[in-house]
Amino acid sequence: MHRRTLILAAGAAALLAAVPGAQAQEAVKVGLILPLTGPFTAIGRQVETGARLYMQQHGDTVAGKKIELIVKDDGGVADATKRTAQELIVNDKVDVLAGFGLTPLALATAPLATQAKVPMVVMAAGTATITEASPFIVRTSFTLPQATEPMADWAAKNGIKKVTTLVSDYGPGIDAEKAFTGVFTKAGGQVESLRVPLANPDFSPFLQKVADAKPDALFVFVPAGQGAQFMKQFVERGFDKSGIKLIGPGDVTDDEVLNNMGDVALGAITTHHYSAAHDSPENKSFVEAFKKASNGTRPNFMGVGGYDGMHLIYEGLKKTNGQGGQALIDAMKGMSWTSPRGPVSIDPQTRDIVQNIYVRKVERKDGELYNVEFATIPNVKDPVKAAKSN
Ligand code: PHB
Repeated sequence: MHRRTLILAAGAAALLAAVPGAQAQEAVKVGLILPLTGPFTAIGRQVETGARLYMQQHGDTVAGKKIELIVKDDGGVADATKRTAQELIVNDKVDVLAGFGLTPLALATAPLATQAKVPMVVMAAGTATITEASPFIVRTSFTLPQATEPMADWAAKNGIKKVTTLVSDYGPGIDAEKAFTGVFTKAGGQVESLRVPLANPDFSPFLQKVADAKPDALFVFVPAGQGAQFMKQFVERGFDKSGIKLIGPGDVTDDEVLNNMGDVALGAITTHHYSAAHDSPENKSFVEAFKKASNGTRPNFMGVGGYDGMHLIYEGLKKTNGQGGQALIDAMKGMSWTSPRGPVSIDPQTRDIVQNIYVRKVERKDGELYNVEFATIPNVKDPVKAAKSN
């Protein structure tokens, strides 16, 4: 009897050892795909630093399993993102895909997440429809309409009547233009729209058109990092002395580049979900730790997207006891927590983030430029998807 049990036990052990991946189940693999070379490197670095910082602060074991982070560079090119995601799914057998620095990179990968039933945490990209591209997508960044509609409201209520919009000509820029124009014209405002190419933009010819139109305000969306180039050309053309107000979602004054823009940025009004100056104990310690982890770089909204994305993965895994797939996505739905940006939750219907949007003004504080928050619109859902479900 005793001998037979032993033999059976030995047989079971041999069988287990022969099952490929049996060992790997002790780890949860997270494939983090980001632009870490090319023109959008700043976005990738912010997200990676945020994600690594979260792991450093919370340990690398969740529900008894080791979290293994595999970081890959896609250079900001959608074909590379897709190929990398495929390799991570097939070869590395990742349990979670994460990152996605730009909208086209997220959209190219969405069908793979659906086919493989692998949760895909979008930590950066901001076009509203992204979460509809796969039931396995969940987002910890923001949507452009979510950040932009409050800007249109504020402008309409603060004496601005005529606006020129200038946006990068792709998903999030078009979302921002539509969201602003919809709300602002309904309130009686007048809008003229300009679109600038995403790659290597030269803003000068567009700024000439703005000068000719003489609007009360110039509404700008450019992706994180491009604000520096925009602001340089804005000053070169004397806009800082033109009386035309600079407004937009907060991408143009992102916290990483803001401090180097100089006084020209002072007074810019933006609406967004994150400011490094957000006044909370959670944010103060986040900013301090992020700077320590990155040679003094200030976190921006991309950094907090990476940090919160890891939080969502950790808390989801705690709920599923380490299980991935559909169970993990289900566990993430409805989750809420206090982020460095303020209170956030994951909408269980849309898998998109619900968060406060703050109205901010660029001011000098302790010798540095910050987006100083002065009003809060609480618990904002993406308005594009909210309108569809009504
Ligand atoms: C995007 O491509 O979705 C994107 C990139 C940078 C931003 C916002 C949106 O600042």
